[in-house]
Amino acid sequence: MGFRSLVSFVMLAIPIGVTLGILLALDAHRQATGQQPLFQDNSVSKDQYCQKAYGISPTSKGLQYTLNPNQWGWDSSQGGGLCMNVTQFNNNTYATNVTAPQFSVTWQYPQGPETQPVHAFPNIKLDGEGTIFPAAISSIQSMPVDVEWTYGIGNKSANSTDVTGMAAALVNTNVAIDMFLDSDKTKSQSSTDAKYEIMVWLCTIGSATQPIGLAQGPVSAQVINGTTFNLYFGQNSLEQYVLTWTAATAVENFVGDITPLVTTVASLGRADFPSSTDYLGYMGLGSEALWSPQSVTFDVKYLSMDVRTA
Ligand SMILES: *[C@@H]1O[C@H](CO)[C@@H](O)[C@H](O)[C@H]1NC(C)=O
Ligand SMILES: *[C@@H]1O[C@H](CO)[C@@H](O)[C@H](O)[C@H]1NC(C)=O
Ligand SMILES: *[C@@H]1O[C@H](CO)[C@@H](O)[C@H](O)[C@H]1NC(C)=O
Ligand SMILES: *[C@@H]1O[C@H](CO)[C@@H](O)[C@H](O)[C@H]1NC(C)=O
Ligand SMILES: *[C@@H]1O[C@H](CO)[C@@H](O)[C@H](O)[C@H]1NC(C)=O
Ligand SMILES: *[C@@H]1O[C@H](CO)[C@@H](O)[C@H](O)[C@H]1NC(C)=O
Repeated sequence: MGFRSLVSFVMLAIPIGVTLGILLALDAHRQATGQQPLFQDNSVSKDQYCQKAYGISPTSKGLQYTLNPNQWGWDSSQGGGLCMNVTQFNNNTYATNVTAPQFSVTWQYPQGPETQPVHAFPNIKLDGEGTIFPAAISSIQSMPVDVEWTYGIGNKSANSTDVTGMAAALVNTNVAIDMFLDSDKTKSQSSTDAKYEIMVWLCTIGSATQPIGLAQGPVSAQVINGTTFNLYFGQNSLEQYVLTWTAATAVENFVGDITPLVTTVASLGRADFPSSTDYLGYMGLGSEALWSPQSVTFDVKYLSMDVRTA
């Protein structure tokens, strides 16, 4: 035995290796050309992330997204915590090539000091570095957003959002699109170095959840596909100029092009507002978690976002 079987094993191994190599190359080619892969993984991954901050970049169909629990204003000695659940289709079958993986966030935090009330901004951001970002404001053609979400008390996804009931239960949070802009391309992609932040609040829950500049009253208003947004303005502790468009009433299913919320402020010629030659370098969507006496769950049932430039 021994010698002879070793020979036949070697003889056999070469053709198998060659065949597999060809198949794998063929499969990569099929996927690259948009055909059904030969070895398709149709499983669905449901993963939970409870880290303080952690980048999660599931594969998707076209545009890539990165999710992050982002508990930037929290340390575990305060009690409470947050977990983010991310669902991904391992075969990358999503409704459109800008559709995001589905995610939900369950959290609970005690009340923080008035100077630092936010504990976390669990969010999903567009990974567009070098492709869509940085985008000169003057080049932006459209910024389509399609989102469906709910917020509710408890550890399960709610079917609908009861803003009044949550506020009565002393929950303080919002649902927000977050964007950063600067005249410098690199700074525009940094949430701390950018000169301007534009937020779009799709809902505001609790009396402590206030946009910067609320006391001064709204400085402008815009209606996007039936939703009225009022603009508040001020500076944050990093001395960034913060422009917050807040929906007059919560909008759980928002479909619209938010370009006017960026371009109209850039057309006003104010030194403390972005201008049309500035760059948009960052766009994400999440929830600013202030505090809540009991667990609450933010569920993003569907999301797609894009920034299309000329
Ligand atoms: C991808 O996987 C999902 C979940 O298993 C399945 O519903 C869907 O049909 C698959 N897509 C394709 C193109 O096979
Ligand atoms: C998404 O698909 C559209 C239409 O097919 C195409 O124009 C666009 O470039 C695609 N975007 C990405 C990020 O793949
Ligand atoms: C929700 O989850 C937290 C953290 O896992 C747990 O402490 C709490 O008991 C849960 N609440 C409910 C109502 O299940
Ligand atoms: C998140 O995932 C955990 C662990 O799988 C699960 O117990 C929990 O119910 C999920 N939360 C939601 C809102 O689906
Ligand atoms: C949510 O809707 C589902 C299906 O319509 C229903 O079975 C469930 O009881 C509802 N949950 C709540 C908390 O209302
Ligand atoms: C306006 O909202 C409706 C309902 O969500 C949606 O079907 C429609 O496509 C939206 N229109 C535009 C122009 O975005």
